[in-house]
Amino acid sequence: MARIIGGVASTHVPSIGKAIAENKQNDPYWRPFFRGFDYVHDWLAREKPNIAVVFYNDHGLNFFLDKLPTFAVGAADQYRNEDEGWGIPVSRAIAGHPALSWHIINGLVADEFDVTMCQDMLIDHAVTIPMALMWPGAAAAKASPAKPWPVRIVPVEINTVQHPLPSLARCLKLGRSVGRAIESYPENLRVMIVGTGGLSHQLDGKRAGFINKEFDRFCLDHVVGEPEVLTRYSIHDWVEQSGAQGVEFLNWMAMRGALTGQVSELHRNYHIPISNTAAATVVYENRKEAERKAA
Ligand SMILES: [Fe+2]
Repeated sequence: MARIIGGVASTHVPSIGKAIAENKQNDPYWRPFFRGFDYVHDWLAREKPNIAVVFYNDHGLNFFLDKLPTFAVGAADQYRNEDEGWGIPVSRAIAGHPALSWHIINGLVADEFDVTMCQDMLIDHAVTIPMALMWPGAAAAKASPAKPWPVRIVPVEINTVQHPLPSLARCLKLGRSVGRAIESYPENLRVMIVGTGGLSHQLDGKRAGFINKEFDRFCLDHVVGEPEVLTRYSIHDWVEQSGAQGVEFLNWMAMRGALTGQVSELHRNYHIPISNTAAATVVYENRKEAERKAA
């Protein structure tokens, strides 16, 4: 059976892609952020996932304001990136796992999430940048075919762009439904869950540059063991506390929901600012009850 080994969440700011392209990982501005991935690399090398289910929000590459699903699941053989206009290199395509995608879609619809099903889907920087951070070098378009991405992906898009947005509670439930579906999939897979975006930031309006360190810490402290506490906030409360784009935390809530066992925080890196954004990177372990008893 497929097994959910844990989760990683990361900021996905486009300027990270530029820093990678220009090899600025050790510059004083970037070093505190990139060093936060050292632990992630060790964890990935140890745990060896072969599937990543990625909760993210599209910024206009695959969906635009004219047609924007609240939830969409990719069911493609592979997912391509294209030039989004940020001046960052186009990422190499990432293979999908259509059979697992359809299994997850069936589980979601059975749980009354009426998702959009995408057999052709572009992935934007909200997927490609966290992937490039987790597996340095793999995104380069000219990377050796003999060294492919080490995981296949199932992208799950959540609308954090055009209001009305889904609630935090709804995204937590979405994640739980995805987690149940993964664990009922018969193939022997090691699945990691990824949530991208956040934390607090606002890119426009009178509060452009807004960051709320105290609220970010509150979120990081509660999302691991008490995610329900965060569901008490409405989306408008969240915008007030975390900024207009801080609502990308919905992807983190879905990621947390998909971790179905005993969840503990293995790693946290929080750094201000990366391009007007509070940058956070976490690794969560997901252990089944039986494993805990055996340990
Ligand atoms: Fe974003």
